[in-house]
Amino acid sequence: MRIILIALISCFSSLAFADNSTLLDAMNKFNRLMSDETLRQQAYEAGQDRIRFCGHCHGENGNSKRDYIPNLASQNPVYLFRQFEKFANGERKDYVMSELAKVLTLDDRINIAIYYSQQQVEPKPSVNAELEQQGAQLYNKVCFSCHGRSGQGMEEMPRLAGQPASYIKHSLNLFRNNDPSRANSPMMGIASMLSDKDIEAVAAYLQQLD
Ligand code: HEC
Ligand code: HEC
Repeated sequence: MRIILIALISCFSSLAFADNSTLLDAMNKFNRLMSDETLRQQAYEAGQDRIRFCGHCHGENGNSKRDYIPNLASQNPVYLFRQFEKFANGERKDYVMSELAKVLTLDDRINIAIYYSQQQVEPKPSVNAELEQQGAQLYNKVCFSCHGRSGQGMEEMPRLAGQPASYIKHSLNLFRNNDPSRANSPMMGIASMLSDKDIEAVAAYLQQLD
């Protein structure tokens, strides 16, 4: 938990917040959480309380109910937190998420990010070893430098390991098509080099990765 909070704080300090008082609020909040075990536990419980609705799609334990919906379990809290901001300010767009993100307070975003990052992701079983092997080769050549050797990501780099193949494919296609719903992402250039077959293979590899 301590490492997570340090990561969150270092992220905040490097972000260009439009409003400095928001940054200060966030920093103060995290400092208080870090120095007090009870407050940290309360943040987790408040997160758990706040995700009842989210659970219908993302699962109570962060393992999504449908393959086109991303898992949030084991996801990096800084990445989660930043996505709320992107959905709320329109940089990232999704029919449901864009509306939801606008009603989350700063506390909600912090608590939810802490809650979901602490859940355990459940990867899918292996189904096609040959395809997964092709995906592994591509991953280890092109993707690992940002998303980590085992797909665990870090801070603002999302974890990909255990993410449903449908969601991975959907996201890579958005990036490849320069879709404005995920504007300004470094993934645009990378995805533009991928064939349909590459996408199929890397998605198969990632969904069974622990
Ligand atoms: C009706 C289903 C639904 C509900 C309810 C819902 N989500 Fe989502 N959520 C989605 C879908 C679909 C996406 C993927 C959007 C995309 O393709 O960019 C998503 C994406 C996300 C992401 C980005 C994950 C990533 O890997 O990039 C986060 C974080 C998130 N949701 C959090 C929440 C939280 C917190 C709540 C509750 C306040 C919630 N969602 C409620 C369907 C839902
Ligand atoms: C230069 C660093 C970098 C490399 C290399 C890279 N990525 Fe990414 N990737 C990112 C970042 C940063 C994000 C978050 C983008 C955002 O917030 O819109 C991301 C997001 C993604 C997402 C969306 C995850 C989610 O939860 O919504 C997928 C899927 C993905 N990358 C797959 C890949 C694959 C597959 C490769 C290799 C073919 C790859 N990436 C290579 C930096 C990279």
